[in-house]
Amino acid sequence: MATASVHQQILDGNIHKKIPLSTYESNLEPTLQNLESLLPKTSSEKLPKFDPMIHLQYYSNELASHKYNNTRRITMKELGLENPNLQISPIGVSDPFPLFTEEAVTIMKKELLTKDIFMENARYCFNSTSGLDCCLRGYVKTIDGKVNCPFIYEAWTNPKTMELISKMAGVDLEIIMNYEIGHVNISIKSNDQANEEIIKYERLMIDDKKRKNSGDDIPAVVGWHYDSYPFVCVLMLSDTTKMIGGETSLRMGTTKGENQVAIIPSPQLGSASVLQGRLIEHIAPTPLGLSERMTMVTSFRAKNPSLKDSSILNTVKPEINFGSRYNEFYSQWINYRCELIKQKMDLINNKVKTGDSFNKDDITNDLKDVEDYVKKTYEEMMISKEEMAKMFQKK
Ligand SMILES: [Fe+2]
Repeated sequence: MATASVHQQILDGNIHKKIPLSTYESNLEPTLQNLESLLPKTSSEKLPKFDPMIHLQYYSNELASHKYNNTRRITMKELGLENPNLQISPIGVSDPFPLFTEEAVTIMKKELLTKDIFMENARYCFNSTSGLDCCLRGYVKTIDGKVNCPFIYEAWTNPKTMELISKMAGVDLEIIMNYEIGHVNISIKSNDQANEEIIKYERLMIDDKKRKNSGDDIPAVVGWHYDSYPFVCVLMLSDTTKMIGGETSLRMGTTKGENQVAIIPSPQLGSASVLQGRLIEHIAPTPLGLSERMTMVTSFRAKNPSLKDSSILNTVKPEINFGSRYNEFYSQWINYRCELIKQKMDLINNKVKTGDSFNKDDITNDLKDVEDYVKKTYEEMMISKEEMAKMFQKK
């Protein structure tokens, strides 16, 4: 394909990677219709509003709040990855914890699978290998303030939700930008395909009794990688009762010995886990036995502007990730970076407000940090030779 047209397609919002209407009608519309029957009947057509006391498991179910409070968390130190200069929390990762109720998940799925929302925003997954792997990004709230999915927006931004996620992460968090609210990954297989996978896997286990159920033979969606943003919260939107595999493996630091990995179980419907994914290399194998697998990911940075924001654009820039629409994505990136630069400058300004005991070295270091941050903001939008090659491979 000619260079010019590849660039044009990216500028147009990767529209050449949209999902065909026929695929939506055959694979996703039936799911949407099933969801209708799961929701309480109301007199109006409107979906219920998000209510933290009803839709957060922590507040609506005592057992869930107990589970939340007793969730295992692994520190950066325990992972052998402690990095005082870059880490924003001593916590590296959490096990899955109960977050949203089943009804909340149903409403979220109903919002995102609505025909207009899906057709406008869904794109084939940039790292998809087979079948229908797609993602929806930047669909919840647009740059001009229009909220397309009010329930999903409120569910992630409500102070009570933010409090639960921040507490689990060990640091007060802030959503990176609206584009990163509720990124959805959808993988669809036929029931026959899903059942075949289970049978094949069971045979494999019988054939090799020595083989441990470690998920080692399960192919991974994405290879070992770091995330682009400091913290992620990954929520499961599918029923995982029949699922095999799907755990996340984390590479531990070399001080913990070669090839040591920590395993985090896959969340069940409505549960989520948090991960300091910018600093922890990880891999999530493709789980088997599910006809539909949907996860929702929201990305965060530290709320405190004096803490390090090491965000990069490796896996999310529009030239690489089809789900990122050029104009909207980069505009939001610049909005968020400029806002944070302003906050960082305010902090410096406030330090010298009183006019006494001026510390030249300290202020110089602060200004250099801001300079690096500004530089990173435009450098991250640049495309490397390798990325350029990838862009053309995939078209
Ligand atoms: Fe990741």
